[in-house]
Amino acid sequence: MSNGAMPKPEVSDRADAPRHVAIIMDGNGRWAAARGLPRAEGHRRGVEALRKVVRASHELGISYLTIFSFSSENWSRPASEIGDLFGLLRRFIRNDLATLHADGVRVRVIGERGGLESDICALLTEAEELTRNNTRLTLVVAFNYGSRQEIANAAQRLAREVAEGRRDPATITPEVLGSYLDAPDIPDPDLIIRTSGEQRLSNFLMWQAAYSELVFVPIHWPDFDKAALESAIAEYATRERRFGGLVAKNAS
Ligand code: IPE
Ligand code: IPE
Ligand code: MG
Repeated sequence: MSNGAMPKPEVSDRADAPRHVAIIMDGNGRWAAARGLPRAEGHRRGVEALRKVVRASHELGISYLTIFSFSSENWSRPASEIGDLFGLLRRFIRNDLATLHADGVRVRVIGERGGLESDICALLTEAEELTRNNTRLTLVVAFNYGSRQEIANAAQRLAREVAEGRRDPATITPEVLGSYLDAPDIPDPDLIIRTSGEQRLSNFLMWQAAYSELVFVPIHWPDFDKAALESAIAEYATRERRFGGLVAKNAS
């Protein structure tokens, strides 16, 4: 390779087209309360918003969409609300799986399966298996998911390998630990959106979010639509991603 013939690789990249968008779908309860409706109605309308956002994501050329649908900590809600949320997941998979498949959506699920009712586990597996060869959009459903649990599970598996003499602890690098997480083949999210104004991660993708751009929007999840997604992407496009390096114009 001759000196100076190749353009210098850019150490920063203007972030105009997120490949992976992850969404903390928050505010269903507040949306309902503001209308004098039961929280369950907010969750039901939240599923309608999700359908629209999945469609918008493939129209906008997003390759991976991760949605936070039930957290490890959501078990602390009243049993009736947990029942409503699980019922909606069941109905979403039963009603929408054929359409998702026809639209070329691949479904992946992250989170703890142990402890879930067996019919839910069967539906999650069916969704993953039916859609496994689809390539248009990967929809990652974070269900019974918590980042700390995910990292602790990875640590347990690695510790077991060390205890059984199959691994040297010195080989446990960030790349290796990352490869023991729930969906290691999926790139880290470029953009994480949280609706409803709260500005926290609530145990969502904490490892994978190391260099994600975070966009917080005030609207409640049931009101989130394609226009809202486009405006979050427009905000993302103004950000300068550096990954610890220098901005391109300052790199020499
Ligand atoms: C998001 O809406 C749905 C889940 C967390 C499952 P919330 O139910 O958290 O709604 P708010 O935050 O109470 O408004
Ligand atoms: C995060 O929202 C979990 C999901 C969107 C599934 P929460 O409403 O549970 O988060 P906190 O309790 O406000 O942090
Ligand atoms: Mg909430």
